Amino acid sequence: MARPVAVVTGASSGIGEVFARRLAADQDLLLIARRRDRLESLASELTAQTGARVEVLEADLAGEQGLTIAAERIGAERNLDLLVNNAGFGLSGYFWETDRDRQEEMHRLHVMAVMRLCHVALRTMVARNTGGIINVASVAAFVHAPGSASYGATKAWVTHFTEGLYLDLKAAGSAVKVQALCPGFTYSEFHDVLRRDRTKLAPKSWWLDPNFVVEESLRGLQRGQLFVVLDWKYKTLVNMVSRLPVGLRVWGEGKRNRK
Ligand SMILES: NC(=O)c1ccc[n+]([C@@H]2O[C@H](COP(=O)([O-])OP(=O)(O)OC[C@H]3O[C@@H](n4cnc5c(N)ncnc54)[C@H](OP(=O)(O)O)[C@@H]3O)[C@@H](O)[C@H]2O)c1
Repeated sequence: MARPVAVVTGASSGIGEVFARRLAADQDLLLIARRRDRLESLASELTAQTGARVEVLEADLAGEQGLTIAAERIGAERNLDLLVNNAGFGLSGYFWETDRDRQEEMHRLHVMAVMRLCHVALRTMVARNTGGIINVASVAAFVHAPGSASYGATKAWVTHFTEGLYLDLKAAGSAVKVQALCPGFTYSEFHDVLRRDRTKLAPKSWWLDPNFVVEESLRGLQRGQLFVVLDWKYKTLVNMVSRLPVGLRVWGEGKRNRK
């Protein structure tokens, strides 16, 4: 019998790679990112270890061509069981000082790609009345800071959009599950790409292991949990910040210097 298929975007490193490693035990995989060499070596390793069929797709999801190819491939997958919209990146600096092309790339990747891939995946999943989608957002969706206007805004979009999908699916009586995964600082290549010194961003106790992030996400998906915020410190922070009057929240956010 054909195994269920999980699609992971941004599977060439970090949280996406951990999702791929964890899912290969039970599912065949379609791994998407730009670095084909990374995807291919991960695919060979996982096939050798687990016997999973692992397909790789080199695609720039911030570009129209790459996104169309990925959407068409996902749309053709009859055994689609899970989509993890994980590909993403950060930017450092005041909004007007950063490169505008990179700002646009971020909006295309965090917003347009997530929307398009959810649309094509849900067509199949809703018709089969099974499956799940994990959209990787961030604690930054709830707690903003100087130097990350677009990052915070696009990740807030991911949480709002996922909540909207959740409501649609509930109203339609569908068994398909959706989740907005909201990690805090997590060990991956994210901050290497940004050239940020981890020790200057947050104390060690605030850094999460990507294996923990992925385990909690998959556990949450099984339970049908819409928002997954990890670790008691981040849960407390998000709960507190969400309850503050807006003026107090923005005053507190202004005290953080993440530029
Ligand atoms: N690490 C953290 O502290 C943290 C915290 C909260 C949320 N997150 C979120 O977690 C997700 C995964 O990030 P990570 O921490 O695992 O960072 P990472 O190790 O840098 O991984 C990012 C992944 O996204 C892929 N990617 C980037 N741009 C892409 C594009 N245009 N098209 C296709 N793939 C692209 C990268 O692959 P290629 O370069 O090969 O394309 C890579 O596989 C992101 O959405 C990030 O915003 C991270």
